[in-house]
Amino acid sequence: MTSKNVELDSVWLILAAVVGAYVFLFGFLKKINEWYYVIRLGKKKHTSLPPGDMGWPLIGNMISFLRAFRSHEPDSFINNLVHRYGQTGIYKTSLFGNPSIIVCSPELSRKVLTDDELFEPGYPSSMTKILGKKSIHGVSNSEHRRLRKLLVAPINGREALSMYIGYIEDIVISSLEEWVHNSSPIEFLTEWKKISYNIITKIFMGSADSFSESMAEHYALLFQGAFSPLAIDVPGFTFHRALKARKILVNAIQPHLDERRYKNGDDPNIEKGMIDLLLEAKDEDGEELENELIVNLLLGFLLAGHETTAHVASWLTIYLHDHPEILRKAKEEQEEIVKRRPSSQKGLTLNEIRQMEYLSKAIDETMRLCGIPLALFRKAKDDVEVNGYTIPKGWKVLVWNRGIHKSSEIYPNPNEFLPSRWDNHKPKAGCFLPFGAGSRTCPGADLSKIEMSIFMHYFLLNYRFERINPSSPVRFPSPSPQDKCVARITKLP
Ligand code: HEM
Repeated sequence: MTSKNVELDSVWLILAAVVGAYVFLFGFLKKINEWYYVIRLGKKKHTSLPPGDMGWPLIGNMISFLRAFRSHEPDSFINNLVHRYGQTGIYKTSLFGNPSIIVCSPELSRKVLTDDELFEPGYPSSMTKILGKKSIHGVSNSEHRRLRKLLVAPINGREALSMYIGYIEDIVISSLEEWVHNSSPIEFLTEWKKISYNIITKIFMGSADSFSESMAEHYALLFQGAFSPLAIDVPGFTFHRALKARKILVNAIQPHLDERRYKNGDDPNIEKGMIDLLLEAKDEDGEELENELIVNLLLGFLLAGHETTAHVASWLTIYLHDHPEILRKAKEEQEEIVKRRPSSQKGLTLNEIRQMEYLSKAIDETMRLCGIPLALFRKAKDDVEVNGYTIPKGWKVLVWNRGIHKSSEIYPNPNEFLPSRWDNHKPKAGCFLPFGAGSRTCPGADLSKIEMSIFMHYFLLNYRFERINPSSPVRFPSPSPQDKCVARITKLP
């Protein structure tokens, strides 16, 4: 045998090894998850599963999910499923360590969110560990209903909220003035978090003097960790930092709770907050609520109550300033409101906020476009048959509202910021879900819209916004500019 033949043989050998490894990896390894999760369901169920792919052992489809969300095309994850398997509106996958079903059609999403008999909360384990086992997601359906009645009344309905208008105005006006006098540009997103954080702590903690602003930093870590794809409690990981932040926040809430528990009744100077309602409440057996539950509820409300609003408000400001014509119209509306106002009136009224129709459309359009939150997580309590497919008992169900909001069939030119698309348009059931639907609909929807409307009123009338890095990349899955929206705020002449 010549040395040339030996060389050729080696090349063939290497090629065969590469092809073999490829076949093994993609043919065998890729099938393991499918066998593990799907085949064991039994023939009848496994043939009626929605189309899709269960990804790799252990990690499922997390790599393609993260790749999509780290790219400039976060929708490529869902678009890829649609491209491969057609417009079924329901796909099987494996994410966050669980076999899962993604639903992204309006009808199916509504069904999942409104049927409490068949579906329960199913957030990733990172979220459960961060909000605590006993939390708004961890109580029984009947306990959840009772807690919601108690907690939602003071922040639901614009009338109930009208008593906070003056307070929100004070915070907004003083923040704006502070920003103008800042010699260097501000991180707009961070500053907005302070605004929404101050509002929510006032409402929930009452006269919460001892609750410091620096806590907002720890909440930011908690928020990042809640959807952590790798719930690994090892130094250096986001999830580890989030758990550390949780400890600090719980330690800060606890003494506050103790103080209110023992002193509140007899001190007429203490303003009551949600914390007091929780301390007075009784559970289904007539017992006081457990300390752990109260702490976790407060933690959850304070987290949900400021991070989301701050993100949406920042995008609203960015979109408006990226579209001068829309900005002009929004400003004109505010000027009209001021013109109609009797000269004796100081500050905004609820009625005036109701008249901000154009701004309200801009807020809705922002929520449609910016994709917060990424998805709503449920778990099937039983095998569920929908549209001829089976959602197996115990599997997670991800309501992909981002997919619905970006569907070109529902919203023509879905990537464009067009508040006018809401003119005389009432979305069909399930087509617009920024606050979810059903018994777990966001209780803070009205509060967050009031906060944004009050802010925009003063901002549009008196200030100019200039982004320092307009092309700063966007971080996902909770979309935010990587530079936290560094901007210069100046007063209009
Ligand atoms: C623009 C701002 C906001 C957005 C986009 C938003 C979005 C949502 C969504 C989609 C849900 C439903 C989650 C699910 O079905 O699993 C939800 C639930 C929730 N939100 Fe909001 N939210 C916002 C502001 C607020 C505010 C200001 C508060 C506090 C006052 C709040 C407190 C909550 C709570 C406690 C829940 C859980 C409700 C339950 O499970 O019964 N959110 N939010």
